[in-house]
Amino acid sequence: MSIENVDVIFGASWGDEGKGKISARIASQYDYVCRFNGGSNAGHTFYVGNKKVVTHIVPSGIAFGKPSIIGPNCVVCVEDFFSEVAELARLNFDVKLIKISPKAHIVQKKHKEQDINTYAATLGTTSKGIGPCYADRALRVGTRACEIIPADYLWDEKLEGNVLCEGAQSFWLDINQGNYPYVTSSECLPYASCSLGFSPKKINQIFAVAKMYDTRSGTDPYFDLDDEETKLVAKLGNEVGATTGRPRQVKWLNLDKLAHALDKAGATMLYLNKGDILEQANIFKLYFNSELVVFKTMDEMKSFIQEKITDIQIVWDFQP
Ligand code: IMP
Ligand code: MG
Repeated sequence: MSIENVDVIFGASWGDEGKGKISARIASQYDYVCRFNGGSNAGHTFYVGNKKVVTHIVPSGIAFGKPSIIGPNCVVCVEDFFSEVAELARLNFDVKLIKISPKAHIVQKKHKEQDINTYAATLGTTSKGIGPCYADRALRVGTRACEIIPADYLWDEKLEGNVLCEGAQSFWLDINQGNYPYVTSSECLPYASCSLGFSPKKINQIFAVAKMYDTRSGTDPYFDLDDEETKLVAKLGNEVGATTGRPRQVKWLNLDKLAHALDKAGATMLYLNKGDILEQANIFKLYFNSELVVFKTMDEMKSFIQEKITDIQIVWDFQP
């Protein structure tokens, strides 16, 4: 059997959009669930029944009994990986389904040290050694998974049937498209899923995920609002990094940036999360054409967004 269909989930903002939640909702329809970028800098939180699951490198398919692949464009810290595997085993998931591409690169101790000592302060990185590991890969002096990961965990590089690819990070953290140097060190757009070894022609649906307000964990001069209203939204939305525990900065949804991300990434559907938080705060604001637009109700704000984003189906997703 060959690959029949590929769908991709990707973050259209600055990460933390709720990709994990969407992925967990649809993962059981697929034969494989794959990660195609990044490492344990990501944090995907979702619920299976009332079990809370937080993953950093393992795709969410693991919670639904699906082969869960960590692709060649990912970077893997062996220690973080095995502690995540142990936690998933404790939750009774079949961890034998987790496979790492032999071509994925290994995050070494020196990569983490460099990240902690230098880039955490200058760039607000997650301290997971991501940038230094990708740097060594580019210099062609890195260590690959095939050299040190036990054979049971190595992927045979086959995919078939219906494949779901889970993006990590997001459009504005992408090393090509984002606000460089305030970006991560990998490609986060849907095209990067082809690093798993299939043609772009296989991609069918591209599910974009964003929130009804923007947030940023880590350093970025674009996030310049820090007032009572944004603080309230951060508190109600529990905007704390799943990987770092750092508070996230809040800014009102930038519809210009969102439309740009959807267009460049080729989104076919948009999930908009966390409108319930704006309802609780009773604040409805966004930027359009670089101007702040204020609404009285969520319905007004929704109609405005719907008028501006006409070519893509929007799913208003207000459940946690
Ligand atoms: P790095 O990926 O650890 O090098 O961090 C680079 C930038 O991307 C920092 O601003 C991080 O806060 C941000 N970042 C990396 N991964 C994520 C994520 O999964 N969610 C949100 N921000 C992230
Ligand atoms: Mg996250």
